[in-house]
Amino acid sequence: MLKIFKIKTLLFTPLIKWVVLNPGVMKSNLFLKAMITFPSMVSKTYDKKIAGSGHDYHRALEQGLTRVFNKPQKILDLCTGTGIAAFKVAAAFPMSSIDAIDQIRGMLDVAKKKAEESGITNINFEIGNAAKLKYSENEFDFIVTSNAPIYLSEAARVLKSGGLFLATYSFSGDAFLHLKYAVNQYLSNNGIDLVEMESTGNGVYILGQKNK
Ligand SMILES: C[S@@+](CC[C@H](N)C(=O)[O-])C[C@H]1O[C@@H](n2cnc3c(N)ncnc32)[C@H](O)[C@@H]1O
Repeated sequence: MLKIFKIKTLLFTPLIKWVVLNPGVMKSNLFLKAMITFPSMVSKTYDKKIAGSGHDYHRALEQGLTRVFNKPQKILDLCTGTGIAAFKVAAAFPMSSIDAIDQIRGMLDVAKKKAEESGITNINFEIGNAAKLKYSENEFDFIVTSNAPIYLSEAARVLKSGGLFLATYSFSGDAFLHLKYAVNQYLSNNGIDLVEMESTGNGVYILGQKNK
């Protein structure tokens, strides 16, 4: 399993580099279509694959969450998938209210079932397109996204000024670190200051703050 994970990293690293250096591709029809096709195919087996990967999928996310310093009340998890980040956020900030969106119904069905089974009630799982959010400007204290494309202009729009933005990846941490200048540029082009970017194990977390 660890071998499969390494092969995956080898495949994803060039793709990540390409997207970080050319963030405009995330708006292309081909990219947006791929983001519908592949997740739809894996929604039922997604959690099982992660659990069996033999890799600490959650480490970057957990580390990143320890760095969130603004005691957020209103939180948004973008591209939540089966809710992995949303559940971690709910544990870290139990008094908060969390909106968690994804565009694939199959993924959300799994997330909702897990919420029901564990009795967690402060996460609202909803269908939504992260590239075109239904929320108003300046709504959220904290936005998180893990292992997903960063549709930053929309995230920045709905984040309050001074609010925190956390993106985490469970793999290819080194690739992101080598591209720190490009990540910094992408954040700053969208009104977000880079607070911290750290690799943890194979992954990385990127913490930013919206300009005040
Ligand atoms: C690799 S999964 C990551 C899921 C979860 N955040 C995690 O850490 O395991 C990427 C998710 O991003 C979602 N996604 C990609 N583009 C999206 C978009 N434009 N709007 C909403 N969800 C999107 C996919 O449906 C998929 O569930």
